[in-house]
Amino acid sequence: MLQAVIAIVTSTIPVPVSAAVHGPTPSSSGRPAAAVSPFAAPPGIATAGCPSNCGTRCGSHNASCGWAQGGRCSPFSVLPNVQDQGCRAWEDRGRFSTSPFFRESSPRSYQAWQSAGSSDTWVAHGCDGAGIQTDCFGDVMYFEHFDQPSPAPAPPCSSEPYPSHRACSFTHPGKPSGAASFGQYQCGWWRGYKSANAANLQNSPGRGAAYDAGLFGAAGAGADYSKLLADVLDNCPSCRTSTKSALQTPFTDAKAFFTGALWPWVCSEADDAAYEPYTGSKYMNCYCDNEPHNGRQPSGGKPVFPYESMFVYCGLYEDGSGNSLTCDLITLEPNGGEQPTNATVYASSFVLRPAAF
Ligand SMILES: *[C@@H]1O[C@H](CO)[C@@H](O)[C@H](O)[C@H]1NC(C)=O
Ligand SMILES: *[C@@H]1O[C@H](CO)[C@@H](O)[C@H](O)[C@H]1NC(C)=O
Repeated sequence: MLQAVIAIVTSTIPVPVSAAVHGPTPSSSGRPAAAVSPFAAPPGIATAGCPSNCGTRCGSHNASCGWAQGGRCSPFSVLPNVQDQGCRAWEDRGRFSTSPFFRESSPRSYQAWQSAGSSDTWVAHGCDGAGIQTDCFGDVMYFEHFDQPSPAPAPPCSSEPYPSHRACSFTHPGKPSGAASFGQYQCGWWRGYKSANAANLQNSPGRGAAYDAGLFGAAGAGADYSKLLADVLDNCPSCRTSTKSALQTPFTDAKAFFTGALWPWVCSEADDAAYEPYTGSKYMNCYCDNEPHNGRQPSGGKPVFPYESMFVYCGLYEDGSGNSLTCDLITLEPNGGEQPTNATVYASSFVLRPAAF
């Protein structure tokens, strides 16, 4: 059932905006969209381990990756080891609780989750270096949702002028479970918490999981739509919280609390050599689409949140069959192509169990 639910999310809602949580600065060069592959090298072929725009921020374990690294090699074939450095120092300290989500693997790796009978897979990465975006940020606690696996690579994505909100299929450089591509792919970031209160997307402006994980906007100038988005999430008639707000987690009695966000994978036209080590072309910038719906507004315009933003709250539970997550998926209520005014629970209390990927 969940599979169908998610398929609807991504096929009927007009595609949202572009740029990474940890935002690239796409340029709108008007360059025609060439039929270039989204990846510089064919999957499995190594490229540079430390992309030029990472400067001195790459860690000593920076590396290229390919099929040998499986699901860890995502979304590009480089693991520059930037924001995952020092993860161990905070992943289970203070309000954070990360290890319980990796009981079957390790926080230095990733854990896949599946709903019984569904073909889609949810993947939470820890400090494994997955998730790098084209601005050389985002490689810690990456979160992915995959559906429509295929053994063949996907056709090249047609890049469109920034901000493109057209969802692309995804050719996976790590070929997890033998799947070279996925027809549906959404990605973002997450955090794990000890308490429900800490897991709320927002407790007060500037405080909460959304700010810990960068879930309320892309980095960089002219992209801060956090207040606008928080107001819409705060209006969630179908939410199970007593406040009817999506800013709070509906889970209260779990062993640990998961809060994440996902956006469709998109490609926008660009003209910057910095993108080449990631996408294989300076003219193509691909990312988890958290760019403002109306694009960045560096000259004082009002950036609007991407309409296809999705938020996931889960509680981690243990029963006779081991670990499971019970989750709610929250989307923004489509408003006929206009700016959404409220949030809605798209799928409620679905149960995920550890899976291979
Ligand atoms: C990347 O890793 C290599 C070792 O594999 C190391 O020599 C190099 O200094 C690293 N790059 C940076 C920028 O740290
Ligand atoms: C939620 O959004 C829909 C679509 O725009 C609208 O029809 C409805 O009135 C809104 N509900 C609330 C409570 O804001």
